[in-house]
Amino acid sequence: MKINFRQAEFVVGAASLAQVPDDGLPHVAFAGRSNVGKSSLLGALTGTKRLVKTSATPGKTRELNFFRVGGALHLVDFPGFGYAKFSKEERARISKLIGDYAAKCDRLRGIVYLVDLRTEGTALDLQNVVALGESGVPMLIVGTKGDKLGAEARAKAIEAIRGKFELEDDPMWVSSRTGEGVEELREAIGGALDEA
Ligand code: GTP
Ligand code: MG
Repeated sequence: MKINFRQAEFVVGAASLAQVPDDGLPHVAFAGRSNVGKSSLLGALTGTKRLVKTSATPGKTRELNFFRVGGALHLVDFPGFGYAKFSKEERARISKLIGDYAAKCDRLRGIVYLVDLRTEGTALDLQNVVALGESGVPMLIVGTKGDKLGAEARAKAIEAIRGKFELEDDPMWVSSRTGEGVEELREAIGGALDEA
């Protein structure tokens, strides 16, 4: 499916499952630790940076933010996992909201799980990927902030992530700053929706 990602509009910030839009369109969600670059990547994919809240301070995204793209699907910006400055209760609320949505919403067709290349994937990432995997929703692991590493360090990080998450192929990587990998990810999302 060829999707016009540049035609994007904010729909709703859902703080509960009842607020999740149900207009028949499929959803593709972006998950990962706080500060990994989820919101920035949505901005890069849609070419509309002002649409998506990003921040130098983590913890910007508190709800499931839905963006209707190309009249064809919703991209969902998740709050980050594990932001240390949130209270224990707030972290638990966010984990439950994401877990319930992934388990129960049958419009959710794919999860893009972002891993900061520089960390090579943390124990929390592995735990999140296992937990989200239980929903049975297909998942794509993508490395972020590729511009922060040289080619050699990047190749090493990609190999480490492939090993840690037991992937069959090298994970894709992106840079929201330079735009590298962004068109490839658009194509992967379009292709995944064709199969779903
Ligand atoms: P939460 O909403 O707290 O979960 O964070 P997030 O995952 O949405 O991260 P966000 O997109 O807000 O980015 C966090 C910080 O990383 C910001 O300062 C961004 O400018 C920076 N950042 C995001 N993507 C990139 C990238 O590709 N390259 C570089 N150099 N910085 C990036
Ligand atoms: Mg965010």
